[in-house]
Amino acid sequence: MSNIRLTKTVQSGGCAAKLSPDILAQALRKLPVSKHPNLLIGLARPDDAGVYKLSPEIAIIQTVDFFPPIVDDPYLFGQIAAANALSDVYAMGGKPITAMNVVGFPAGKLPLDILREMLRGGMDKIQESGAVLVGGHTINDVELKYGLSVTGTVHPDKIITNDHARPGDCLILTKPLGTGVFTSALKAGRIKQGQMKHIIKSMLTLNKTAAEVIVHPHTKGFGVGACTDVTGFSLIGHGYLMAANSNVTIVIDHKAVPYFSGALALARAGFVPCGTRNNLRSYQRYVSMPAELPEEIINLLFDPQTSGGLLISVTQNKAQLLLKRLKDKGIKQASIIGRVVKRGQKRIIVE
Ligand code: CO
Ligand code: CO
Ligand code: CO
Repeated sequence: MSNIRLTKTVQSGGCAAKLSPDILAQALRKLPVSKHPNLLIGLARPDDAGVYKLSPEIAIIQTVDFFPPIVDDPYLFGQIAAANALSDVYAMGGKPITAMNVVGFPAGKLPLDILREMLRGGMDKIQESGAVLVGGHTINDVELKYGLSVTGTVHPDKIITNDHARPGDCLILTKPLGTGVFTSALKAGRIKQGQMKHIIKSMLTLNKTAAEVIVHPHTKGFGVGACTDVTGFSLIGHGYLMAANSNVTIVIDHKAVPYFSGALALARAGFVPCGTRNNLRSYQRYVSMPAELPEEIINLLFDPQTSGGLLISVTQNKAQLLLKRLKDKGIKQASIIGRVVKRGQKRIIVE
């Protein structure tokens, strides 16, 4: 196996790798939005994934995600990219059934064993999810990129959208924040991959178990109103989308939010990905924050996550029970991080 540091081969950088939500919204504004009686969730009210009804019993969930390496080891990168792509199906309450590889590979610049190891990592996660790989598409690219297009299924009445957070609900987050500060510190050479094992372990953990807990038939009584996964737009960005779509305000207790150990120190040392600035530019205006909130906390609340946790809005009297069930199933860092209130001046209040 070659000793190439994959994060050093990335040219586009964290910022160019993902379009800012503001820019994307500008581009989409001028385009028509598809409408069809069977299109249950599309771009008219964006959620984690699109959902299309095939029959009264079955709807398909479709999603795609891919990006350049954020860790140096191709096998781990493959697992992380696949876990991240599969996550949107879980965030909708569905089960992944098929996946396709989406690959950009700089032929002649990187050895083929990197491609093979990366795809092996992806394959392992696809298998763990219970889905099957049905194909893929590869282009000769200036730099490595990898991800999946995933199709899942869900009963049309059991879709978990991001628009049903209700005043009085509690908010649970299933993974800590800070993958962005760690991956930018790794890219800058400030830390070694071995110093972020806990982050890597979290990123390659599927949101499968968490999703199974919230959709389990016997746990219907949990009263989950809304769910989304926290990814590139950060806790604040995805929380904003949930609040806006539900027409409520979300209150986040920043002291209750779990951060990866070491994340605050790296944020304080200035390892802030470009994506954080994009997120601040796009969402800060919807947020009220205490004047004395330390900058490193702000940077983590706006930190773009890769393969982040689920943000779940649940009836207040069921929140402790759901939290316990998640922890019993091994999701040890799940935490109640806030609550939902009636719509106020701002969509998000950090306190
Ligand atoms: Co999502
Ligand atoms: Co996504
Ligand atoms: Co959802």
